[in-house]
Amino acid sequence: MATRSVCVLGGSGFVGTRLCAALAQEGWRITVPTRNPAGAARKLGMIPSLSLVGADIHDPGRLAGLCDRQHAVINLVGILNERGRDGSGFRRMHADLAAGIVGACHGARVDRLLQMSALNADADHGASHYLRSKGMAERIIRNESGPDLRWTIFQPSVIFGPGDGFVNRFAGLLRMIPAVLPLARPGARFAPVWVEDVVAAFMHALANDATAGEVYQLCGPDRLTLRDIVCMVRDELGLARAVIGLPNWASRMQAAVCDFVPGKPFSTDNYRSLTVDSVCSVNGLARLGIRPQALSAIMPRYIGDKGTAGRLSRYRQSASR
Ligand SMILES: NC(=O)c1ccc[n+]([C@@H]2O[C@H](COP(=O)([O-])OP(=O)(O)OC[C@H]3O[C@@H](n4cnc5c(N)ncnc54)[C@H](OP(=O)(O)O)[C@@H]3O)[C@@H](O)[C@H]2O)c1
Repeated sequence: MATRSVCVLGGSGFVGTRLCAALAQEGWRITVPTRNPAGAARKLGMIPSLSLVGADIHDPGRLAGLCDRQHAVINLVGILNERGRDGSGFRRMHADLAAGIVGACHGARVDRLLQMSALNADADHGASHYLRSKGMAERIIRNESGPDLRWTIFQPSVIFGPGDGFVNRFAGLLRMIPAVLPLARPGARFAPVWVEDVVAAFMHALANDATAGEVYQLCGPDRLTLRDIVCMVRDELGLARAVIGLPNWASRMQAAVCDFVPGKPFSTDNYRSLTVDSVCSVNGLARLGIRPQALSAIMPRYIGDKGTAGRLSRYRQSASR
């Protein structure tokens, strides 16, 4: 069979790096556009069949060139926070980009598009700018793709694995704070899904035409509150820290303060996303024949004593003795 080619937008990110490794293993020729080729090269490592291209993906001409001659396009680009607070940053990154990708796919006659969305994405009733803009992107793809561009949409809960932004963020916070972690929206529910299960779902979709026109929610086997997850991380790290759940008013205040902290470690928009549980009504992994792995089974491999941070901490301790 002739080599198939795919453009992976967001291929340099947490999910993208794993997906690119799996695509390469299946013989795909991969193009990854990035704002920072040197940084992306470090994250992706050596993949002979992968080309990194410095590109502004919001430039329609550039996007058209990236989609040219591809058998498939995968969109993993996403942001959790915008610079301002009016939602325009989210709309540009999620909805406008989706419209640009659909247009570029039509122009280049690409007939397969995989779109990464999120659970609770809803253009009209989404709880946050993030979720509304993800919903707008989905609506554009459903309504504007037409019969020649076969799409599949994925809606994961929070994704975990080495290098994730979720477990690692709480691990960092827990290590940093002396005694007590005040936690916003402690009762928010998640069904954390392993990054390799998400990758398997994308690979399955690429290989199976029956997934075209389908939306797959992606969840792990366990429904956990945010407090459950943070306590699991704390226990794995072996840290004596109290995790104090904040009431709603205090969670909102914490978010409002963090809106003005550089890098927005937490934001009012994040707070709003946490007001809806991120759990599946029907797990798409089961529909795809994938048995999901639990956070409790995988997390010890990458944080705590067995993870890189744990190893570094042990080296530091032994060096200072
Ligand atoms: N991780 C999760 O728990 C989770 C849960 C639900 C949904 N999702 C969705 O899954 C997708 C992948 O998530 P991820 O965790 O892998 O994200 P990530 O690590 O933050 O990677 C996102 C990618 O988007 C690109 N990007 C970010 N800002 C950009 C900008 N302003 N212009 C152009 N490109 C930009 C980055 O590429 P460069 O920096 O190389 O340009 C990066 O490779 C996202 O759409 C996210 O919303 C993630």
